[in-house]
Amino acid sequence: MTILVTGANGYVGNNAVRRLIELGKPVRAMVRNMEKTRKRLSDLGNKVEIVTGDVSDREGLKNVMNGVTTVIHTVAIALEQGGQTYEEVNFQGTINIVDAAEASGVRRFIHMSQNGSNSQSPYRFLKSKGRAQEYVAASKLAWTAMRPSAIFGPQDEFFNSLARLMQVTPLLFPMIGGGKAQFQPVSVYDVVEAIVRSLDDDGTFHKELGLGGPEVLTLEEIEKRISEVVAGPRVFFPAPTWLLRVPVFIMEKTLPGTPVSSSLLDLLAVPNTVPDNALVNYFKIEPCAFAGENIQYLKNNDVSTTLRKFFTNTTVN
Ligand SMILES: NC(=O)c1ccc[n+]([C@@H]2O[C@H](COP(=O)([O-])OP(=O)(O)OC[C@H]3O[C@@H](n4cnc5c(N)ncnc54)[C@H](OP(=O)(O)O)[C@@H]3O)[C@@H](O)[C@H]2O)c1
Repeated sequence: MTILVTGANGYVGNNAVRRLIELGKPVRAMVRNMEKTRKRLSDLGNKVEIVTGDVSDREGLKNVMNGVTTVIHTVAIALEQGGQTYEEVNFQGTINIVDAAEASGVRRFIHMSQNGSNSQSPYRFLKSKGRAQEYVAASKLAWTAMRPSAIFGPQDEFFNSLARLMQVTPLLFPMIGGGKAQFQPVSVYDVVEAIVRSLDDDGTFHKELGLGGPEVLTLEEIEKRISEVVAGPRVFFPAPTWLLRVPVFIMEKTLPGTPVSSSLLDLLAVPNTVPDNALVNYFKIEPCAFAGENIQYLKNNDVSTTLRKFFTNTTVN
């Protein structure tokens, strides 16, 4: 009956673990980094079984799967850092998890895919996620793929990174890429709810489910909402992508916890909206808005936390 969560100390992963435990489910949490695990999961004590595992270690994954009936696979990288590549982690890592799951008789598989992922995408990140999903779909597993837009919540990287950048840029702030890129920010709690409701729901088997919040927002609107919470008035000026290439490249090469990268800058060209929102249309959930009380967590980014994150890449939330 054990549910294996891969990437269990990650943002979606630890929230999924918590919700599963609330529901009384037996959970095995697969992690790599014990320091981050202590920060994110230690309060759960012996309610969760922690195992170490790396998606590149095909042999090791056999042990991780012992007694597992369901896998929730959240491991992926959005930035290529520390020698890890999209190809190795997002694509080959998913192949390794699917193969290990099939070999040990797992039946149910929930794959954290990504809105916009597509094996034919010109963007390497989206392509790696799309190819991974094609492998999942070709397996014998009873799979469901979640395709969320950008996910917000206390431990997110995307919205917190903007809030952190605002902490260190008084007065002026760039509307990144001109500010026109579109998103449909979705709460991590809604994403996790979709995951847990799907577990035993065969109506979700062999389906890719788009997950989005209640509003489509431009990056300009998102930046302005964040500034209202964390930074007070700013003068926003349009900064086209080409203008940001050099500063972003320098940040990427010098800051271990860079808030932006060239590959993520590229993705601004792809609308991150969810025309068929399964949260509303299938699960009948009223999704949380990226507004008001739901985004007060952004205030937790003071200057010292921001600098620690940028210069050391430690888990600060
Ligand atoms: N966050 C979003 O806005 C968003 C939107 C749409 C879809 N998604 C998808 O949701 C999933 C989870 O995203 P997230 O935001 O929760 O990411 P995250 O916080 O970065 O978590 C990813 C997890 O993967 C682990 N990991 C990385 N490389 C690994 C490896 N080689 N072997 C084993 N574990 C490894 C990380 O552990 P370490 O700390 O040890 O590296 C971390 O626990 C991803 O598939 C992502 O594509 C996320």
